[in-house]
Amino acid sequence: MHAGLDEASVAADPFKQFERWFHAATAAGVHLPNAMSLATADAAGRPSVRAVLLKGYDTAGFVFFTNYSSRKGRELAANPHACLLFSWEELERQVRIEGRVEKVSDADSDEYFASRPLGSRLGAWASPQSEVVPDRATIEARLAEAKHRYGDAVPRPPQWGGFRVVPEAIEFWQGREDRLHDRIRYRRGGESGGASAWTIDRLAP
Ligand SMILES: Cc1cc2nc3c(=O)[nH]c(=O)nc-3n(C[C@H](O)[C@H](O)[C@H](O)COP(=O)(O)O)c2cc1C
Repeated sequence: MHAGLDEASVAADPFKQFERWFHAATAAGVHLPNAMSLATADAAGRPSVRAVLLKGYDTAGFVFFTNYSSRKGRELAANPHACLLFSWEELERQVRIEGRVEKVSDADSDEYFASRPLGSRLGAWASPQSEVVPDRATIEARLAEAKHRYGDAVPRPPQWGGFRVVPEAIEFWQGREDRLHDRIRYRRGGESGGASAWTIDRLAP
């Protein structure tokens, strides 16, 4: 059985609460604790979802990296709102994050790109993510071409970079007995009025 989640004991700041839970998921040996589902919607409001990896978070938001020309990239350009979901089943926990999306700075994308293994950097050039390709050989040929062109000094492709989800709401869900789960939701803007204040509510399970 897992400990509950209580309005009185959660952090006043949802980023702090996220940090506690993220560290707990890591310590519990959850497989890929930084894997999250990313939901986007196109300009007509039609949704799509896929997994991405969280590569950084702070009070500015939650960052992942991808191809800006991919389906998700195109949807976010047309409709810059997203929802993230972490599902840490071993701990009976999930976290839902909703907010606006912005691109991270070119400098931040450059820095993260440079930290990736060589194969991943070359792969970013080889893959026109989300496009139809005739066959696998086409991608392998593009990889060989990128290797030939760049060797091991691979620049960041202009269409590759980070997005930051700037949360407007974050909900923490803790499974409890008899399906009386705890749900604590933070919404930006609090009674104390400060820009960084959050309103905390309990939601029915
Ligand atoms: C565990 C996991 C982690 C992933 N992480 C990323 C990621 O960080 N960035 C990314 O672009 N795709 C990642 N992918 C692949 C995406 O789920 C997806 O297939 C790809 O980004 C294309 O999505 P789109 O066509 O909706 O844009 C990951 C897949 C899995 C299963």
